[in-house]
Amino acid sequence: MKDFNQLCCEKCWHTTDKPCEHFIQCCTEGPLCHHDEKCEHEITSLRKRLKYEEHDHPIIMIGMGTCGLASGAAKVKEAIEAELKKLNIEATIEGTGCIGFCAVEPIVDIKFPGKDRISYQEITVKDVPRLIKTTLVDKEVYKEKVLGSHGKSNGVISLKQVPFFEHQQKIVLANCGIVNPVSIDAYLAHGGFKAFDKVLRLMKPEEVVKEILESGLRGRGGGGFPTGKKWELAAKQKSDQKYLICNADEGDPGAFMDRSLLESDPYRVIEGMMIAAYAIGATAAYIYCRAEYPLAIERLQNSIAKCEEYGILGDNILNSGFSLHIKIKKGAGAFVCGEETALIGSIEGKRGMPKPRPPYPVASGLFGKPTVINNVETYANVPPIIMMGAQQFAKIGTAKSKGTKVFALSGNIKNTGLVEVPMGVTLRDVVFKIGGGIPEKKEFKAVQIGGPSGGCLPESVIDTPVDYESLKEVGAMMGSGGFVVMDEETCMVDVAKYFLTFIQEESCGKCVPCREGTKRMLEIIERIPKRYGSDGSKLDQLQRFKGMIHLQRLADVIRDTSLCGLGQSAPNPVLSGLRYFRHEYEEHLYDRKCSSGVCKELLTFSINNEVCSGCGLCVKKCSVEAIVGEKGQAHYILDNKCIKCGMCYEICRLDAININ
Ligand SMILES: Cc1cc2nc3c(=O)[nH]c(=O)nc-3n(C[C@H](O)[C@H](O)[C@H](O)COP(=O)(O)O)c2cc1C
Ligand code: SF4
Ligand code: SF4
Repeated sequence: MKDFNQLCCEKCWHTTDKPCEHFIQCCTEGPLCHHDEKCEHEITSLRKRLKYEEHDHPIIMIGMGTCGLASGAAKVKEAIEAELKKLNIEATIEGTGCIGFCAVEPIVDIKFPGKDRISYQEITVKDVPRLIKTTLVDKEVYKEKVLGSHGKSNGVISLKQVPFFEHQQKIVLANCGIVNPVSIDAYLAHGGFKAFDKVLRLMKPEEVVKEILESGLRGRGGGGFPTGKKWELAAKQKSDQKYLICNADEGDPGAFMDRSLLESDPYRVIEGMMIAAYAIGATAAYIYCRAEYPLAIERLQNSIAKCEEYGILGDNILNSGFSLHIKIKKGAGAFVCGEETALIGSIEGKRGMPKPRPPYPVASGLFGKPTVINNVETYANVPPIIMMGAQQFAKIGTAKSKGTKVFALSGNIKNTGLVEVPMGVTLRDVVFKIGGGIPEKKEFKAVQIGGPSGGCLPESVIDTPVDYESLKEVGAMMGSGGFVVMDEETCMVDVAKYFLTFIQEESCGKCVPCREGTKRMLEIIERIPKRYGSDGSKLDQLQRFKGMIHLQRLADVIRDTSLCGLGQSAPNPVLSGLRYFRHEYEEHLYDRKCSSGVCKELLTFSINNEVCSGCGLCVKKCSVEAIVGEKGQAHYILDNKCIKCGMCYEICRLDAININ
């Protein structure tokens, strides 16, 4: 047997048009309808091959998510193929998704028959001959590049003991980087679609809703609304048509959880959607994914086509009477289109603009029909909940925040990547234990959590547990999973400027407070690090102070009178900045200084006249003639002319230029 869609013998009659209700069970435990040693052997052996438990030749697995490809995984794969050909070595090459440790991509795993799978990190094209010779020819471990073993030992550290993985709990990401995301057979062999099969054969829709309610699962798209409650409301609606939507818009700066999950385990998300559709009575579903995610879209298209081919999606799925068709809708990359009513409008072919609620989509959503819209990670949580049971799932996490949360670690942190932690771990553990802390021995300054709607949290609250309520209490929010770490060289005024610029550009313009208010806020923030006003007068200084006085009031108005979450949370980055980093704002305003050295206009360049030899090199380089002095005598910088370009600092061979 080459794949599960092949009949094991003439007694098996499953086809897409005439499906067998036990098909999924058969793939995972089969054959069920007849006892035949040959068939049993064929199906078991296929399963073992797909799980890499049974194989004749070595298997080489290469991380081919966007992070892997960006680090050169495609070239590494070509080099491995060429090297195998040159040495006449027989081995199978498989692509996998991202295991989460993006910082050390390309990751290449090698597995010998009967041995544990070993991961190697940061494999470049140059490393390939050495990797192949050491592992496949000499049958040794390539020690310099080893990341860890997927098994217990081998004289190699277990991946579970590598600090990046040690403190994680993988439920949603369990298959990521492990299975081939393109293969439906690999997904089935790893227990895929078992939850859907259980639901379809053994549970009524209301029992599924109850299970999700009891699990305590809350939406992972940012708001944290109880998923079971949303499904219950939609299930109760009477309608000839209901819809299901998967929100894969993911527009927050610093967020890449959904992309990575869709690239690495697309079938899991589809299975979660199938269960949700069954529970609420939807027969049509959409995945709204931004066009900037071509690989995720490609893998989703492949997965949907494969599910249809196997009879797991389409009409009368597995002879159950339940039908579901899934379509992909590409978004154009507007952040506001992630908001559910704007997203629905965009699928309907209208301009993506939020609408007032109620009515909520569960009552009147896509094309005016009851619609459930959930996030990618929310759906990915559903199959494990069905398999482990609500009670077991509810044991993970805190009293009000159940399960795990996936975060995209980025910024000034050693171990950038995708991590999954049980709710309730502290921010400190994520930054230092999993993230490995700040590179180059610099100090931690803040973590930005919750995207543009969230906040920047300082060291003083770093022991806050990661859960919906605790993060809100300290002025941030869970958000969808962006986790940007900032070191001592980050200027918090500059960070606020960055987020406000983003929000300003992404505001759809419907509400005056959001459209105009964020513009005014941005102007106030932009004025803070300006050295001179447009007319160079004191008036600018006055406006700077006046702006600061108005900031809080402006923030309150924008928050209270904007229609959607974008406007309502727009002031958050500034407010959390003022709450925790007021001294930095004051330093910029009163001392006209930026200690982090980011706000260039506030820097002062001067020449140490004890060191300067008067060579004149900097005079020649300075494009605005801001340096004066006699040849052979110490030189001076005219502060009112200096544009802080740093050219003199770069050129001076005696390091005579001081920057303050
Ligand atoms: C401006 C804005 C952008 C949003 N972007 C996303 C997004 O990219 N992905 C997402 O799942 N939810 C996003 N949301 C939240 C959605 O409106 C909606 O609450 C969510 O998709 C519901 O799914 P959940 O219950 O599984 O979290 C956004 C909300 C706002 C206000
Ligand atoms: S709050 Fe802003 S983004 Fe939301 S609807 Fe109003 S103008 Fe558009
Ligand atoms: S390049 Fe350095 S040493 Fe030469 S004049 Fe400028 S500051 Fe003095």
